[in-house]
Amino acid sequence: MRVPSPDREDWKPVENRPLPNIAVLISGRGSNLRAIVSAVRAGALRAHVALVLSNRADAAGLDYARAEGLTAVVLKHGDFASREAYDMALVEELRRHDVSLVCLAGFMRQLGPGFCEAFPNAVLNVHPSLLPSFPGLHAQRQALAHGVILSGATVHFVWPELDAGPILMQAAVPVLPNDTESSLSARILEEEHRLYPSAIQLVLEGGWRIEGRRVIANAAATLR
Ligand code: GRF
Repeated sequence: MRVPSPDREDWKPVENRPLPNIAVLISGRGSNLRAIVSAVRAGALRAHVALVLSNRADAAGLDYARAEGLTAVVLKHGDFASREAYDMALVEELRRHDVSLVCLAGFMRQLGPGFCEAFPNAVLNVHPSLLPSFPGLHAQRQALAHGVILSGATVHFVWPELDAGPILMQAAVPVLPNDTESSLSARILEEEHRLYPSAIQLVLEGGWRIEGRRVIANAAATLR
């Protein structure tokens, strides 16, 4: 029988454990980063944003991160000889900050198998469509062009294939007759901001497993 020892972290009651470190990876304006930080401040997301990382020095989200006193780092992909070398530099930086969950939020770089293997089932992404419809760039434009009546937002685990990993949470958003790419994007973005922090909290709480492509939550957790 294992005897609880008071100096072992995993025997501490949940409320006394240090908050898990998460990283938010961005390339642009960082509105999902703001939603995550707001949820942390509000106590709805019990995590520490240990690192904000961008592949672009001009990402507006970096200014926000710095103004909020967060650690903000730029790693430019152009400074590395190959995709693999860049991925490994990312892994190193994330490990340096003891990150246990990586949250992509508008990060415009595809991550390869080496990166995903370094953080198994610990990389999330938010995408502005109901996947598997409309992966890749300009998902809202694709949805309008296809004439769908419902689009939405998806939070999913990241696998090396683009926008392909198991789906954690989705929210549907109606496409209205007069929608433009920007009006539809704005309504989807509201759902992203609501969904992403709760999905992160759910993953950090545990009580879920992945079977094939499905994320199965136990009775205590809810995926919707
Ligand atoms: C969001 O629409 C997200 O779904 C997509 O990129 C956009 C990032 O927006 N992956 P922001 O930088 O979080 O404002």
